[in-house]
Amino acid sequence: MSTPASARVGPNARQTRSRAVGAWTDATATTGRALVLHPILPSHGEGDGAAVRDPEARVAEAVGLARAIGLTIAHAQSVVVKKPRPATLMGSGTVEAMAQIVEAQEIGVVVVDGTVSPVQQRNLEKAWKAKVIDRTGLILEIFGARARTHEGALQVELAALSYQRSRLVRSWTHLERQRGGFGFLGGPGESQLEMDRRLIDERIIKLKRELEQVKRTRGLHRAARKRVPYPVVALVGYTNAGKSTLFNRLTRAAVMAEDLLFATLDPTMRRLSLPSGRTAILSDTVGFISNLPTQLVAAFRATLEEVLGADIIVHVRDVAHPDSAAQRGDVLKVLRELGLEALLDGNDKQRHLIEALNKIDLLDRTARATLDAQRARDANAVPLSAVTGEGCEDLLHAVDACLAAQRQVTEFDIPVGDGASIAWLYEHGEVLERRDGEDRVHLRVGLDPADLQRFERRRQERRRSGRQAG
Ligand code: GTP
Repeated sequence: MSTPASARVGPNARQTRSRAVGAWTDATATTGRALVLHPILPSHGEGDGAAVRDPEARVAEAVGLARAIGLTIAHAQSVVVKKPRPATLMGSGTVEAMAQIVEAQEIGVVVVDGTVSPVQQRNLEKAWKAKVIDRTGLILEIFGARARTHEGALQVELAALSYQRSRLVRSWTHLERQRGGFGFLGGPGESQLEMDRRLIDERIIKLKRELEQVKRTRGLHRAARKRVPYPVVALVGYTNAGKSTLFNRLTRAAVMAEDLLFATLDPTMRRLSLPSGRTAILSDTVGFISNLPTQLVAAFRATLEEVLGADIIVHVRDVAHPDSAAQRGDVLKVLRELGLEALLDGNDKQRHLIEALNKIDLLDRTARATLDAQRARDANAVPLSAVTGEGCEDLLHAVDACLAAQRQVTEFDIPVGDGASIAWLYEHGEVLERRDGEDRVHLRVGLDPADLQRFERRRQERRRSGRQAG
């Protein structure tokens, strides 16, 4: 699915930061005007890691999310909620103050960057005479607009339906459409709510069945790709860390890289040429976000399962972001949950993890020095800038070094006449030992697992064609 034109806010709709702390305005965007509120709840209510995060950065993230669905941000701020109210979440003073902003700025949508119950939503909509959308609803909208694969779209719809079922808000357009299509369902006396619930349940069952089917074919695709004899390097990272920008720089491919969150919902793969002359496949994945609503975890993971097949995982980090450390924690937590704990604990012989410490062009000298010191201690932490290109070559060298470390040492006895195979091994591997016999050459060679497979297949093919010729 392509991005709707309205979501392409991009560089010509950059925010201009006004003086007031946490206040933003959009200079040129033209679509629905929105107010973005980030509620600061008593710390136990906000989920893990939230307490250490900078509220301004949280407002900025929420603004980015709202922009990603094409909203024009008329105003954004955080609001302190000392004691969450069951009816309106925030206190009456805040509700009133926001109502004035909504009226004065002709705002149509209020994005509350937190969880809003159906009752709270209804009351706030009444008080503000504007549509209210919470964080889950917002992320669902983004996932819906960005899901590029069939599976992604199905997972998002499933997530949207589960969300809707739990609150029965009748605002989902595709369900409205559905209801039009199945208007005869639901006998007399059945309440609208029950009918909604039943329609949702039926659709959920259908979707789950369809997903099973899609997953089976995806398994086949992955198996087909595994046969592509190149190592796979996967980029992962927090949203807006610069994955797409780095992907483009490294592969010089025209993949959408915008200042929009989730520019990449489904993995994209491109050829990567390494300094050693070796080829790998680079895969770009969806961005992580903090406090991912639970209903969306499955949709998000479906896109990440690809990472499990990678030989090297490059964790792209925005080291200039105030919450850089907390974001790192979020990403590692998900990777651990995906079953990559051996990799994170340094016990994985098959896979390697590299940290791309991105956006160094935004750092001052002291911060740079700290990163350089880290680099000196750890060859797999590479400071770089995807925008200026500085350090990108170092990253490629680090990838090469990891691939070399994954090499398997294998012994071959090759007929003297088979010069092509001998040359192939010299070209693709590292020949550690050579003994020339009467009619055979004995070679001890370090090869990438992928190259070893390629060589074996090549030999089998040659043998087969040799037999046919004979
Ligand atoms: P998602 O698709 O949301 O996961 O984002 P992403 O990680 O793919 O980030 P993307 O490449 O879209 O970059 C996000 C923003 O950061 C863009 O405005 C980039 O121009 C900017 N950016 C990326 N790398 C750098 C860098 O090295 N330096 C600077 N200054 N900005 C960068």
